[in-house]
Amino acid sequence: MRRESPVRYDESRKMWDVFRYEDVDRVLSDYDAFSSDMRDAEAVSFDDDQAMRRTMINAEPPEHDRLRRFVDERFRPGTIRELQPRLEAFAAEFLDAVEDADRIDLVGDFAYPFPVTVIAELLGIPADRRDQFKSWSDALVASPTEETTAAMEKNERQRQRARREMAEYFGDLLDERADGDGDDLITLAATSDDLERDEKVGFCILLLIAGNITTTNLITNAVWCFDEHDVTDAVRTGEIDRKQAIEEVLRYRSPAQSIRRVATRDVELGGETIEAGELVTAWIGSANRDPDVFDAPEEFRPERSPNRHIAFGKGIHYCLGAPLARVEADIALDALLDRFDTIEPTDEPKSPLSTQLLHGLEALPCR
Ligand code: HEM
Repeated sequence: MRRESPVRYDESRKMWDVFRYEDVDRVLSDYDAFSSDMRDAEAVSFDDDQAMRRTMINAEPPEHDRLRRFVDERFRPGTIRELQPRLEAFAAEFLDAVEDADRIDLVGDFAYPFPVTVIAELLGIPADRRDQFKSWSDALVASPTEETTAAMEKNERQRQRARREMAEYFGDLLDERADGDGDDLITLAATSDDLERDEKVGFCILLLIAGNITTTNLITNAVWCFDEHDVTDAVRTGEIDRKQAIEEVLRYRSPAQSIRRVATRDVELGGETIEAGELVTAWIGSANRDPDVFDAPEEFRPERSPNRHIAFGKGIHYCLGAPLARVEADIALDALLDRFDTIEPTDEPKSPLSTQLLHGLEALPCR
């Protein structure tokens, strides 16, 4: 694809696909030509969810900057580093529960609940509501049980109900904390003068959606890649640098595979003309394996340096949570490798997530 039709129109999805690193980089960086604001674009449904219509991820400057500015500081690497002891304690708690088991499901027992709990903690969700919070998160990321219309509609209804319940729940917490002085993110949003109420609710839901399953995939894909390429022990002993290896996992098995934009005007890209109003999918996963940018891109090289992957996006929408995701993955792998002598996926067939947008596994049984 990258070589033969680097920019192509897919009639069935009514959408352009962009595969080369250089072009993906352009689509993500040039927000004047390729907008994230798809609220009025065809084929994208935001149902009746007002809060999700008003978040930074689908806004452009100056609205985007206003929606992001109030929280930027909290996600800077220095601020995230201060959280490290709390995050380590969470990781230990989940692993304590399975330490003596003969086998674990890496996803269900650890890689999924760990990031959800971290977000809940940062938002300041009371501990006795964490289970409810996790079940909302489950509903938001659940796939339909079958490919039938009925199953898909049921799935969508459950998702909408979860969003509605969450919007109500966050709305109440935001009201309660409007005069608060806590250091949690709900209080930060509640006391911000720059945001309207829907925007505050949308911010809370966005964090849950954007930050969980992607981080789950990063942790899962790391264990999977290390085993597949026989480097688990070298990472454990430090012979291979863990942080550098995580960067290669981000490139080689990018947790978020693609991002959508809408063209704001007619644009030339890769010899094609994308017309104003047309939708574009920028394939991060493909860009991260582009031979024009990476030597031997199909090889997993945990010591690859430099590593210019764009797994966290590019430009003004560059992932807010990238420093947090990196620290979470690092803590998770450190804890897993420290705790278990082997962390080896079993031979059972692996079931990939049933969405093309994300790259990860439904489960990863390990012994
Ligand atoms: C944006 C990937 C973890 C919050 C993005 C984007 C990507 C991405 C590719 C760009 C979207 C776009 O351009 O439209 C990832 C990956 C993660 C991860 C691969 C884990 C490995 C997190 C975490 C959080 C988070 C842990 C929050 C706690 C966000 C937010 C945005 C974003 C709020 C929107 C930023 C903006 O529009 O300015 N992420 N993400 N992400 N991510 Fe992440």
